[in-house]
Amino acid sequence: MTISAPVHNLQEIGKRAAGEAAVDLIHDGARVGLGTGSTVKYFLLALGERVKAGLHVHGVPTSRETAELAKRLHIPLLPEEEEWNLDVAVDGADQVDPQFQLMKGGGGALLREKIVAAAARRFIVLVDHTKCVRVLGKPMPLPVEVTPFGWVQSAKHLQAFGGPPRLRTRAGTMFQTDGGNAVLDVPVDEIEDPADLEVRLNRIPGVVENGLFVNRTSTLIIGTPDGVEIQHDSSVAR
Ligand code: A5P
Repeated sequence: MTISAPVHNLQEIGKRAAGEAAVDLIHDGARVGLGTGSTVKYFLLALGERVKAGLHVHGVPTSRETAELAKRLHIPLLPEEEEWNLDVAVDGADQVDPQFQLMKGGGGALLREKIVAAAARRFIVLVDHTKCVRVLGKPMPLPVEVTPFGWVQSAKHLQAFGGPPRLRTRAGTMFQTDGGNAVLDVPVDEIEDPADLEVRLNRIPGVVENGLFVNRTSTLIIGTPDGVEIQHDSSVAR
């Protein structure tokens, strides 16, 4: 029986390659933002190995899921309520365009991810090759985190930016982010001006944050079944 390698596995190989390559960019003593998702998981596992071997780092997790994994791997975490002064944040993305702009939030951790990315001097993004797109948007809907109170009103405003927003659910009830908010997935067309859209969405009452990450990526690591490609954006000044 001949079955060609499922795309899922090739994608997984790319995720792993990107995650493992990122750990070489973490220096001893670094304060590191720890992203969320299936790609960053490989980075965390590799970082845990380095910590075991004597590397000193401190992390700030972008989700409970990441915090739990970091604890299991004995990666020390900084308290939430202090100034983090992060050297670097490392995270995944759902889409990345040639200008290194991102669509995130597929896993629902977008608000914490953006807070942590904004607190870091460098932002390293890990993707497998399937995440690279010419233009952000369609066919992926844009995740927007909103307050549960009045979410229907927020959805009404958001509809002007695409099709009718879909309330994200889990096990038949409203999906809740770690911050206790809801997520609306807004069907959008190709996004011509992500910088403008990112700002306009956040002006809507009830919108807490949206999944566009514009002018934040300093390094992009693309994992493929054949290895990694590392690109730096020198225009990202912090
Ligand atoms: C979490 O909400 C997201 O922003 C993730 O960073 C993004 O969805 C990438 O996740 P995967 O690496 O699992 O594709």
